[in-house]
Amino acid sequence: MKPVWIVDDDPSIRFVLERALIRADLAVRVFADPQAVLAALDAGEVPQVLVSDIRMPGLSGIELLAQVRRSLPGLPVIVTTAYTDLGSAVAAFEGGAFEYLPKPFDVVSAVELIRRAAIESPGPGPAEAGLSELQPMLGQAPAMQEVFRAIGRLSHSDATVLITGASGTGKELVAQALHRHSPRADGPFVAINTAAIPKDLLESELFGHERGAFTGAQLARPGRFEQAAGGTLFLDEIGDMPLELQTRLLRVLSDRQFYRVGGQQALRANVRVIAATHQDLEQQVRAGSFREDLYHRLNVIRLRLPALRERPEDIALLVSFFLARSARELGIAAKRISDAALQRLVRYEFPGNVRQLENLCHWLTVMAPGQRIEPEDLPPEMRAEPAPDARQPSDDWLALLAREARARLEAGDSQVWKTLCDDFERTLLRTALATTDGQRQQAALRLGIGRNTLTRKVQELGLDD
Ligand SMILES: Nc1ncnc2c1ncn2[C@@H]1O[C@H](COP(=O)(O)OP(=O)(O)OP(=O)(O)O)[C@@H](O)[C@H]1O
Ligand SMILES: [Mg+2]
Repeated sequence: MKPVWIVDDDPSIRFVLERALIRADLAVRVFADPQAVLAALDAGEVPQVLVSDIRMPGLSGIELLAQVRRSLPGLPVIVTTAYTDLGSAVAAFEGGAFEYLPKPFDVVSAVELIRRAAIESPGPGPAEAGLSELQPMLGQAPAMQEVFRAIGRLSHSDATVLITGASGTGKELVAQALHRHSPRADGPFVAINTAAIPKDLLESELFGHERGAFTGAQLARPGRFEQAAGGTLFLDEIGDMPLELQTRLLRVLSDRQFYRVGGQQALRANVRVIAATHQDLEQQVRAGSFREDLYHRLNVIRLRLPALRERPEDIALLVSFFLARSARELGIAAKRISDAALQRLVRYEFPGNVRQLENLCHWLTVMAPGQRIEPEDLPPEMRAEPAPDARQPSDDWLALLAREARARLEAGDSQVWKTLCDDFERTLLRTALATTDGQRQQAALRLGIGRNTLTRKVQELGLDD
């Protein structure tokens, strides 16, 4: 069996992995730098699996990967790295990496991963992706690492994927990455935003139409399903798709064929479907506005993107990336952000998630007066000092609560939990809405919950008016 190659400039990592792999009965060869790997490849040697660090002196792991891809396109590659500057993880996947292993890793799972990679038969590997115009995806928060790993894991798959996450969390970016790392990477990536297309045009947008199918249909036109043949069809905002079309879509997904509007001939649907929504589809299924069978068909693999406020540790990384990019676009020097200003951003809620942060950075690049961004340069809603009177909760209300609970328990009330929790939430919502004149967005912000959560609670608790 061909050896597993390990490239790392850190001798302790080489040592630990080498020993663990030998113990696992795998042949191993270690390299201290990428040049040595290239030399071995030039000499005609071939590994079973390549495990490579990203940041090494001389040639970087990413460059190494690009070169390896060219000579051995099907080779399983595992990328290890301690950090993710400029989305090194994803950049590595752009080279077609098999898996991403963030450091520090535990040896047992590393060996497991390598063994799995060794079993994978080196297939025909996706063609070299154009590295240059790719939008990198950044994130070192665990939830994002999970997403990157999933992209790597799915890279040989054609499975339907459902991407969920609030607006601006990067759903489309992930859909594109999934496509580029799929066996269909050479085919087209076609996106359609279900919410943006008028209901009565959506069907012909999706499936195309024949000449004369309806008034105004002067010419036959292929739909997105046909345009995406051999590639990926990205159904954005799937939660907004009208029920009749959900029915048609379901049929297409199960029969793998469809008809143009007004057409007689069945066409083969050779597409991989990736769907995305910011809505709560389970809730829509319960409410009857989304077909349960379609939901199950789409929900084969689910990727959930965290809201930005769930991963404040990524804000600094994103800010410096966006500031640099805006400056490059405008041909000026990149601004820097002061610690104080960064602290404000880390505390801010970002209802518009990464997109909002991206726009903010662009605005700051244009508008902030100095080279260094200070808190006073930020928009008012972000500028605020943390509320000085974030009051310690007084315990008298807790005492009242305890008394109320005891009274109900002793009276044998069987719904104590529900009744009191509902009362509690109702009180919070009413109070917050009263302080914001009924503005839900603001109220949600102040309560520290998402707007959708607030809306749902308002409905559930019957506070609608
Ligand atoms: N992890 C990330 N790293 C870098 N840029 C990101 C990241 N996530 C999102 N972005 C950027 O933020 C913007 C919003 O991303 P995207 O359009 O993918 O979000 P979305 O979830 O599809 O939003 P919506 O629900 O509003 O359509 C894009 O410009 C995208 O490039
Ligand atoms: Mg989107």
